[in-house]
Amino acid sequence: MAALSPRLVAAVLCLLTGVLTFPLGPDSERPATCGYESCHATKANMLNVHLVPHTHDDVGWLKTVDQYFYGDRNDIQHAGVQYILDSVVDQLLKNPDRRFIYVETAFFYRWWKQQSSSMQQTVKQLVNEGRLEFVNGGWCMSDEATTHYSAVIDQMTMGLRFLNETFGACGRPRVAWHIDPFGHAREHASMFAQMGYDGFFFGRLDYQDRDRRMRSKEQELLWRASDSLTPPMADLFTGILPNGYNPPTGFCWDQLCDDPPIRDDPDLEDYNVDDVVKRFLVIANSQAMVYKTNHIIMTMGSDFQYENANLWYKNLDKLILYVNAKQASGSRVNVLYSTPSCYLQELHRANLSWALKTDDFFPYADGAHDFWTGFFTSRPALKRYERISNSNLQTCNQLEVLGGPASRKGPFGEGDSQTLKKAMAVAQHHDAVSGTEKQHVANDYARRLAQGWQHCQVVVSNSLAALSGSSAERFYCDNLNISVCPLTESSKKFSVGVYNPLARPVSWSVRLPVNGTAYVISDPKGKPVDCEVVPVSRATRGVRRSRGFAVNELVFQVQAPPLGYSTYSVSLLQDGPPPAPTHHRTPTAIQNKFLRVTFDPDTGLLSSLSNLETEQSIKLTQNFYWYNASDGNSESNQPSGAYIFRPNSSTPFIISEFAKTETVQTSVVQEVRQWFAPWVSQVVRLYADSRALELEWTVGPLPIDDSLGKEVITRLDTSIKSSEFFYTDSNGREMLQRKKDFRPTWNLKQTEPIAGNYYPINSRAFIKDDVDQLTVVTDRSQGGGSIHNGSLEIMLHRRLLHDDARGVGEPLNEFSRIFPEGLVVRGRLLLSLDRPPAAADTHRPLAQEVVLQPLLTFTHGDPSPNTRLEFSGLQAALPPAVHLLTLTQWDPDTVLLRLEHQFQSQESKVNSQPVTVNLQKLFSTLDVLGVSELNLSANQWRDEMTRMAWTPQTDKMTSPPLKTFRGHSSTWEVTLKPMEIRTFLLRVSVR
Ligand SMILES: *[C@@H]1O[C@H](CO)[C@@H](O)[C@H](O)[C@H]1NC(C)=O
Ligand SMILES: *[C@@H]1O[C@H](CO)[C@@H](O)[C@H](O)[C@H]1NC(C)=O
Ligand SMILES: [Zn+2]
Repeated sequence: MAALSPRLVAAVLCLLTGVLTFPLGPDSERPATCGYESCHATKANMLNVHLVPHTHDDVGWLKTVDQYFYGDRNDIQHAGVQYILDSVVDQLLKNPDRRFIYVETAFFYRWWKQQSSSMQQTVKQLVNEGRLEFVNGGWCMSDEATTHYSAVIDQMTMGLRFLNETFGACGRPRVAWHIDPFGHAREHASMFAQMGYDGFFFGRLDYQDRDRRMRSKEQELLWRASDSLTPPMADLFTGILPNGYNPPTGFCWDQLCDDPPIRDDPDLEDYNVDDVVKRFLVIANSQAMVYKTNHIIMTMGSDFQYENANLWYKNLDKLILYVNAKQASGSRVNVLYSTPSCYLQELHRANLSWALKTDDFFPYADGAHDFWTGFFTSRPALKRYERISNSNLQTCNQLEVLGGPASRKGPFGEGDSQTLKKAMAVAQHHDAVSGTEKQHVANDYARRLAQGWQHCQVVVSNSLAALSGSSAERFYCDNLNISVCPLTESSKKFSVGVYNPLARPVSWSVRLPVNGTAYVISDPKGKPVDCEVVPVSRATRGVRRSRGFAVNELVFQVQAPPLGYSTYSVSLLQDGPPPAPTHHRTPTAIQNKFLRVTFDPDTGLLSSLSNLETEQSIKLTQNFYWYNASDGNSESNQPSGAYIFRPNSSTPFIISEFAKTETVQTSVVQEVRQWFAPWVSQVVRLYADSRALELEWTVGPLPIDDSLGKEVITRLDTSIKSSEFFYTDSNGREMLQRKKDFRPTWNLKQTEPIAGNYYPINSRAFIKDDVDQLTVVTDRSQGGGSIHNGSLEIMLHRRLLHDDARGVGEPLNEFSRIFPEGLVVRGRLLLSLDRPPAAADTHRPLAQEVVLQPLLTFTHGDPSPNTRLEFSGLQAALPPAVHLLTLTQWDPDTVLLRLEHQFQSQESKVNSQPVTVNLQKLFSTLDVLGVSELNLSANQWRDEMTRMAWTPQTDKMTSPPLKTFRGHSSTWEVTLKPMEIRTFLLRVSVR
């Protein structure tokens, strides 16, 4: 048979599509036809197979992000992103029909910086012609189970901004693409909708869900991702890819695969074109059976593929040629180079109605005993470090704006927020904060965060110097949670600056390591502040080891104005031996004016919790347990690992029936210190002014000398009649209802009674009945479940001895230089008890105070006389429903501002109402000269934002396209409806 050359076929296709393409010349300046206009034509009366050449480039996993970029350490994994981009560009130039999508801007940005301007010009042209298309386009492809929305929005903004600034409108991705994350969060879908994406594709969902969707042709659906936002604001068309993100079996033509190439010389013995075409048609036709339209998509690529792109493209060119050649003899299959957006466009043109989904895609299981619910907790220390780093970054961003240019260059040198922004952005990757990377890669993420924070400290110090008028050196104590702070440990006189990143006044309790026994403290107005000195606990001494030597902690309450700071002066009154004796018996109760907590005097465990204001009381016991991690059994050889949670029994072992206790009772804080085992202790702590009970847990090193992997939980057992329901947040925002052994969209066959009932908890979870709601606020992402009525369990730490065969190739067995015998982790849970209708008014602000915590800075001695001891960046606090989500320098004269309504509709009688803020009257030190509104990811003007409209099956009404409107720049007044986030670019000048 006479084979047409690929070039000739390309020309034929051009005629068909009416799009003229020429080989690129240096001065071929043609109008941009990127986006939907650059798609190849399809055939209405045929099955169209969209081949999507792609590479999945993890922003760190088995190797660090830099090792992946350069192709270093190929002994660990053969992967080099720089070569992928070199090779793909080269191959795209060889045939204008070819397409490629690129996803991870963290890598693209590195590569772009290293290209000559002529290469940059060439790439721009490929982008302008839609031959190279960006999809997703965030700095990384974020994890969905363990990330907080604030950091996800930031990392998307960073990647999309680079694409817009480099490529303009043709660089704006139309499609969100999360082909690898291990389950999918509703809040991510909501964010993607508000970022202007027309559709979303992913690869992983529960295998039972997949089966049902294949049978009912519901692998493409409309996800309504918010209960509060008016449709279609949070509606996102969602497509589930046919084979994860891999090519169909037998069609992988990379140097990393072994499938036979297309051998098309009929004179040679091993000619296989007929066989390849036949196999392809079988696969295409069977795939078409489980999708709705006469279009299907095939992902032609995989992890780090296309390093030698010639292999793929040479065979894809031939595949298209030979499959389409069959049309002459009656075949009804048409294959084409395509992209996710071109495929999406065809689905949209089909003008069908789509199944509506309102829950999420957690948990994810790829087999009966393979629930990916372990990573909700894996690497708890990294998860906490990532969360604190977000708080520090937001503070750094705000102070960079409030302090003006002097923050970047000032008395403490040159600083920047960019380093921490980038470190946070890579930390959102689905093998970063998720905890599913190799140990050396986890270390690299932590190192980047630490380095970023160093750069930010300079910004913070400079800014505070500018705002306070004092250039006294500021010290930072990052280890206060283990009572380590060299300055406060040794100083007789020091001051504490408390910066509050929230837009409302907040008070916190602080605990500082000190050596003295009596101190006097004064607030910014010179008024004395109540304080107490309590001894450092045995558990804390155990964790801090030789890193500090303070014998006591100084405890007092501080307050700081919105987006501002207060300065407290501390002076030693009395040195000497330990203070306040501790009692070794368990008190029957501790209480403040809001809460009363009782203990069982025999066991030392919590026994009840009462809210004195609302006069409600529940039985509450709490203890620590461990699940014995499976190392495989006769049912399945699946062990627990970094991804998978698989206990070998549904009954966890109790660590101790009793807690040894010590009690500290002072006027500012009351503590019951519980000791369960050498590796488990806790402080039950009630501050005088707090509406929440704090449980500070310390867990580790988990013993493994018995050769048993351990997954440690704490469990709260209450008298609440929760009737199999509990509630978890989605990425820190809207709450989702969970029911035991139940999924809202399919008939679940439960095969793992514990692991199959675990869900991600990003910032809080609660159980409730008609009268009582117990909310638990966490300080990091964790996994948890409600296995029994009235019970809520949270997994705190895990140490495993086997790899779970999902690629990381290491058991999750963390240790460090300071903890060679295994990692010790400390964290806090905050408990509040409320009447259900009012509970959100408590838990929303509480969770927020844990996410955005005050930043403490320390200076030696007294502040110099003219120092400004108190400052607020706002003219007035924002209303309680409004959260200032983002305030960051954008360009020299502009700042990016995000305001958020932080309540769901119906959630709160007082707060679930629209609320209006005046942008011009917002800041105390900045004049707002102009305002424009943007989409959520700040890469498109709000009034230019139009999205494809999709019709859900269950709604009779067709959703109208998103209404666009001009920013309210004329009035300065902006109104926020429940759960709405609005993004503004403000032109400002410093007063
Ligand atoms: C703090 O107190 C401890 C124990 O009393 C003592 O060993 C240490 O030298 C003191 N350090 C300072 C700086 O006062
Ligand atoms: C996108 O980038 C262009 C420059 O390429 C800039 O003029 C425009 O303002 C940017 N758009 C947004 C929404 O930031
Ligand atoms: Zn991945």
